[in-house]
Amino acid sequence: MSDIDYIRHLEHADKEYIWHPFTQMKDWLEENPIIITEGRDCFVKDCYGKWYLDGVSSLWVNIHGHRRKEIDEAVKSQLDKISHSTLLGLGNVPSIELAEKLIGLTDAAFSDLQPRLSRVFYSDNGSTAVEVAVKMAFQYWIHRGKNGKKSFLSLKNGYHGDTVGAMSVGNVEIFHNVFQPLLFKTFKAPSPYCYRCELGKTCPECSFACLREMESILADHSDEIAAVVIEPIVQAAGGMIVWPDGYLKGIRELCVKYDTLLIADEVATGFGRTGKMFACEHESIVPDIMCLSKGITNGYMPLAVTLASEEIFNAFLGDFRDLKTFFHGHSYTGNPLACAAAIASLDIFAKDETLHNLVPKSAIIDYKLTEMRQLQHVGDVRWKGLVAAVELVRDKKTNAPFLWEEKIGWQVAYEARNDGVLIRPLGNVIVIMPPLTISIGDLNHLMEVIKKSIISVTG
Ligand SMILES: Cc1ncc(COP(=O)(O)O)c(C=O)c1O
Repeated sequence: MSDIDYIRHLEHADKEYIWHPFTQMKDWLEENPIIITEGRDCFVKDCYGKWYLDGVSSLWVNIHGHRRKEIDEAVKSQLDKISHSTLLGLGNVPSIELAEKLIGLTDAAFSDLQPRLSRVFYSDNGSTAVEVAVKMAFQYWIHRGKNGKKSFLSLKNGYHGDTVGAMSVGNVEIFHNVFQPLLFKTFKAPSPYCYRCELGKTCPECSFACLREMESILADHSDEIAAVVIEPIVQAAGGMIVWPDGYLKGIRELCVKYDTLLIADEVATGFGRTGKMFACEHESIVPDIMCLSKGITNGYMPLAVTLASEEIFNAFLGDFRDLKTFFHGHSYTGNPLACAAAIASLDIFAKDETLHNLVPKSAIIDYKLTEMRQLQHVGDVRWKGLVAAVELVRDKKTNAPFLWEEKIGWQVAYEARNDGVLIRPLGNVIVIMPPLTISIGDLNHLMEVIKKSIISVTG
């Protein structure tokens, strides 16, 4: 088969056999799919040999760029030992070394703050990291003798994954509505989405009216609420909503006041994305349970962890017959290849001075977004570290959105593709989330292409 025939075969077979996630397949079947064959640094190549700048880090997972030699070698070296062995009843070397490293990392990030995160529970992806957290919090209170604490409080516009528990604590209407009858009931507090404040207030004059709403739910239901579940600092899939300073600390204080656990889902924000290793560091708070995934292996392999405090861990200790065991686990829990990739990825932070080097890049984002804010259909721009968003609106005076059916975000994304840039919008929100190692030149280029694409689509 000639090269071009093979490419045609792949395009055909993709449409014939694959059901793509979060994709209207009718549209997909009518499009020319991009099929990726190779990656290097911040770029990926399609099967025709065209290179694209990876403007969303292959769905927010790639931190240090594609094909990092150090991680390639760590995985290859682990392959020579063993690819998989279970953590159910056995240990394995990379999972132990990674757990030690992660606890060292959180100790360094949160220094003397309490509680100390001291235990690592492995799973495979962001959704399962959240499922684990939810089940752990639920069972914790049973062991503490507070059986009434069976529910959860989370935020509107929150997104924690697509499994049933993670959807139950989430709230992105367009994703979750159809599944509503399947989900367990949870309490929902307003999101601090200041651009579209549902309470009609203006920050900071409001003095966090949304936090007061949360407090009133907690005051009325603290004996029912096991945990407050949040995405700290940036609510990602709900529209890259960047929180006002002080809001996260306010939540932490409420959790202490009303004796409920705090679960921080750092699946999107962890590993430097917001400019600190963990987003919770911005407000010097530590959650009781923290979920991590995505960037943990630099996008090499599916892996997630749920970190817990010693107090939570201790509550599960008991005699075998007490049935205090945490009955949860997956076949690939603590997979040695994935853990080896994660160890190598964590080592790169120090070597590359990744966080230090983000400072001038954040400044570029700041400058370029300030320029974009002037455009006729840009309603809001928001960013933190190396996550940024541009919210497009039909009418800038009234903030009236484009109808979602217009797929305005996708129109911009398709336009950017012509200029060799891959982005994936969230409705009317253009998401900018390149690998943290992107060069200053490539970042400037990315921002310019996005600006040009917005102008070309919206006029
Ligand atoms: C904050 C957050 N939590 C959980 C998830 C789910 O992660 P996964 O897609 O790996 O299941 C995501 C995915 O985007 C996320 O952004």
